[in-house]
Amino acid sequence: MPLSKRLDLFGEEIFASLNEKKKSLEKEGRSVYNMSIGTPDFAPPKHIVDALTESAKDPASWKYSLQDLPELKQAVVDYYRRRYGVSLSPDEVMSCYGTQEGVGHVCMALCDEGDTVLLPDPCYPVFRAGVQLSGAACAWYPLKKENGFLPDPDAIPEETARKAKAIFVSLPANPVGSVAAPDTYEKLIAWARKYDVIIIHDNAYSDIIYDGNHGGSFLAHEGAKEVGAEFFSLSKSFNVTGARISFLVGRRDIVDASKLLRSQIDFGMFIPIQKAAVAALTGPLDSVKAQCRLYEERRNALCGGARRIGWDIPDAKGSMFVWAPIPAHYQSSMAFCMDLLERAGVLCTPGASFGPHGEGYVRFALVLPPEKIAQALAAIENSGILKEA
Ligand SMILES: Cc1ncc(COP(=O)(O)O)c(C=O)c1O
Repeated sequence: MPLSKRLDLFGEEIFASLNEKKKSLEKEGRSVYNMSIGTPDFAPPKHIVDALTESAKDPASWKYSLQDLPELKQAVVDYYRRRYGVSLSPDEVMSCYGTQEGVGHVCMALCDEGDTVLLPDPCYPVFRAGVQLSGAACAWYPLKKENGFLPDPDAIPEETARKAKAIFVSLPANPVGSVAAPDTYEKLIAWARKYDVIIIHDNAYSDIIYDGNHGGSFLAHEGAKEVGAEFFSLSKSFNVTGARISFLVGRRDIVDASKLLRSQIDFGMFIPIQKAAVAALTGPLDSVKAQCRLYEERRNALCGGARRIGWDIPDAKGSMFVWAPIPAHYQSSMAFCMDLLERAGVLCTPGASFGPHGEGYVRFALVLPPEKIAQALAAIENSGILKEA
C-alpha cells in the first residue's frame, strides 16, 4: 500500500555506508576516532541532574504537565535578561522538545504551500526537513568562504526576497563554524523589514565561541523582536542532549502560532525535565564557561595540528564543529570520508550532506579530548591520504 507521499521527500540515509564501514573496522579490532556526530562527551552539571531526580520522586510529576510551568517561563525570561540583555515577557516563551523538534514543526505554524523559506547552504539538516513538511518551498542562500561563511542578504536575488516568507539563520554555525560579525544581524534585520520576511534564528552555540569573543542572542539586536524569533537550546551548553530541552522565544505571533499548533498534538514537557531546565537556567554558569575553554583546546588541537601536518584547516570561530576543505585530489566529500575512515580510522561527516555548497568539505565534531585528536591526526598523517597526487 503506498503510504504518504510526504515520505518521498526524504532520501536514503547517507550515513548508512559510513556506519557499516565503521562497524566492520571495529569488528577487525581497529580503533575508530569518531568525530562525526555532535553529541557532547561531557556530563551535565550535578545540580541539573539532582533537580530532575528529585522531581521524579514525586508522583505528581508524572501527570500530563499540559503547559510550561510558570517558574520555567520566568527562568527563561530571567536568563535572557541576565545572559543576553534581552527583555522578554513569559508569554513570549514556549518550550519545545529540543530545537530539532521545534524547527521541524515551526514552519507548519507559519507557512502554507506556495510559500518560500530561505535556508543557509550548508545548514543543519532539519531546517530543510521542517520547510518540506510544511509544504513550503526551500530557497537557498550560500554561506561562502570569501564571505567568512556568513549570510549576505544583499546577495539574495530580489525576486527570491520578495517571495520569501521566512529565513533561517543560525550563528555560531553548524557545520561551518562561523560567528556573527558586528553588523551581521543589523543587515539581516534591515533586509527582513524591507521584504517583510520572518527571521527564525537558531541559537544553539552561543556558549561555544572562541578567541575571546562573546556569544549573544539575535534578539539583543535592535528591531529583532519585530521581525523574528529564536530557538534557544540547552543541549550543548549543559550537555543535556537526551533530555530534549529548548525554547522558542521572541515575536508574539510566531510564538502564539507555534503554541496553538503544539496544543493540538502534545500535552507538554515531562515535569522533572522542566525542573531540570529551571535548575540549568537559574544555576551557576561556571561549568559552561570552563567547557567552552575545553572546546577551544580541542579546536586548537584539531585545526593547529592539521596545519602542522600540511592540511590547511582554518580555525573554527565557534560551535563545536570544524569545517575542513578536502584535499584537492578528491572529487567528493563522501569519497574522502570513506577513505579517511578506511585508511586512518577517522570518522567525520561529508559536507555534501549539509547542502550543495557543503561539497568539497568535511565536518569534524569536537567530541574527543586533545590527546585523542592528536592521535587521530597522527593516523591521518601516517595514512598518506593528504599527499597523493
Ligand atoms: C544548529 C543546531 N541547532 C540545533 C541543534 C539541536 O538542538 P536540540 O538538541 O535542542 O534539538 C543542533 C545539534 O547539533 C545544531 O547543530
